Amino acid sequence: MEYVPIKKPSLDQISVRPNLGDYAKDREAITWEGIKGELDWLPGQRINMAYECLDRHLKTDRRDKIAMLWEGKDGEEETYTFAEMVAQANKVANGLRSLGVQKGDRVFMFLERIPECYFTTFGTLKLGAVIGPLFSAFGPDAVKDRLEDSGAKVLVTSPELWAKIEGIRSDLPNLEHVLLITRRHQAEAGEGVALWDEVVKPQSEEFETEHTDPEDYSVMHYTSGTTGKPKGAAHVHNAIIGQYATGKYVLDLHEDDIYWCTADPGWVTGTSYGMFAPWSNGVTSLVHEGGFGANMWYSLIAKYKVTVWYTAPTAIRMLMKAGDDVVKKHDLSSLRYTMSVGEPLNPEAVVWSEKAIGLPFHDNWWQTETGAIMIANYPSMEIRPGSMGRPFPGIEPAIIDDQGNVLPPGQEGSLALRPGWPSMFRVYWNQQEMYDSRFQNGWYITGDQAKMDEDGYFWFVGRADDVINTAGHLVGPFEVESMLLEHPAVAEAGVIGKPDPVAMEIVKAFVALKEGYEESEKLRRELIRFGREKLGSGVAPREIEFLAGLPKTRSGKIMRRLLKARELGLPEGDTSTLED
Ligand code: PRX
Repeated sequence: MEYVPIKKPSLDQISVRPNLGDYAKDREAITWEGIKGELDWLPGQRINMAYECLDRHLKTDRRDKIAMLWEGKDGEEETYTFAEMVAQANKVANGLRSLGVQKGDRVFMFLERIPECYFTTFGTLKLGAVIGPLFSAFGPDAVKDRLEDSGAKVLVTSPELWAKIEGIRSDLPNLEHVLLITRRHQAEAGEGVALWDEVVKPQSEEFETEHTDPEDYSVMHYTSGTTGKPKGAAHVHNAIIGQYATGKYVLDLHEDDIYWCTADPGWVTGTSYGMFAPWSNGVTSLVHEGGFGANMWYSLIAKYKVTVWYTAPTAIRMLMKAGDDVVKKHDLSSLRYTMSVGEPLNPEAVVWSEKAIGLPFHDNWWQTETGAIMIANYPSMEIRPGSMGRPFPGIEPAIIDDQGNVLPPGQEGSLALRPGWPSMFRVYWNQQEMYDSRFQNGWYITGDQAKMDEDGYFWFVGRADDVINTAGHLVGPFEVESMLLEHPAVAEAGVIGKPDPVAMEIVKAFVALKEGYEESEKLRRELIRFGREKLGSGVAPREIEFLAGLPKTRSGKIMRRLLKARELGLPEGDTSTLED
């Protein structure tokens, strides 16, 4: 396998921990038992993620240390110490309890990255309820499907976001309360609609955190598969062991770090690494509400003296596009360590960042289902640009064939993990069969194709299914096809990921129209708008192409594989099941 070796980061860039640096020794020295001993267990071997991230620091010098540096999209600045975070989360827990929320209930958030989003997460966890974060760019259909499936009891949102989706209310009998945060826009309470200022603000800052069992559900993220609507992957409080450990050893978080994870909590990176890893390590974390902007991002690094930065390949490619001149305008000397996740990180991006910002991005790999980083180019390791790195101690990945046989180095196959790590998902909500199908022959099947080289570095090859990865976000073709079929003009729809130089893939739909409808530019635009309105811009198709009919198997299944091969001008492969 070809790779360009890159210089190992120098030791003054990376503060190497004892043992970390010798891969074989690390794997022996870092054990789940050892990590468990570093956490603060509650009586009776209980553990609560909120307690680990926040309350336990109050017994130490970190009490008045800044936990969250927040910068709003209009430049507002707020800071919260660990003690203040606890007080705010306690108010949320009391407020939710006053609404009747109990242990195990699902509380969903449909919020931008405002401080209340973070307080709500920890307040919910303190209560022993399950937090379900949703991406604020979702449209009503995307939100409805997730609230319906999870049976969410409360939705915490803002008046402006609620206005976008409130039509879904009548379809959600389990949704008892909508809690509106009026930070930016005023609103009035009404039937089933309560105000944060009335429910949360007046509450006590004291709350006895629920002593949850390690196996109690904590966080739930919806993720996409090839078939069916998105599935709710639920995690348990025990996951904090993995998030804490990888925060310490992969993110290399140290007491004085200023850490910035650019991901939104609507996706798992924004919770596991936007909240749980940094705060369980007692580290100050920057939260920026606004979106991407090369100049803005570099200014934030300079302004807050960010030392450790975790972002995604699409963002890095956009930074590359913005050019080196903009980098030079900023003092990025505070940075000591940079990482990336979510999609393949092309080797050029690693080489570019080393030249332009003086640090290579360390790629790592994991999934919603894994809850924490599994494979990484971790700090003191030689980076192999283009590789995802080597397994974290305690994680046993392998490349296997369809029978579960382990394949030798260099051979491409299915990337699998030996089940049982602490942050492993425990269920797909309401979909036990689908969950069970991910475990075969003693392996958890990730759905990715990969290879391992002679030195145990893993290399991503592609996905084994039709799931689209657009800017690091997974989109299930079925969800998009179902939405298109709701439009009166659409008879059939097939959705694929079309390669894109920046976002890796974009969502492209092929559509066949019903009798009586004619393809036109106007209709194409209308379908694009329809998609954005229903699912939101992160999920909706960016391109639509009309076809007279879609290629289908004899049993009527649309052959996305064929659509993709045709789009790419590749051989069509086995078409023996194609209908005549
Ligand atoms: O296909 C892999 C890709 O993203 C998938 C997981 O996406 P999600 O569940 O949304 O989790 C996001 C948290 C990381 C994987 O199955 N992926 C993730 N990291 C990488 C990657 N593909 C290539 N290289 C990576 N480093």
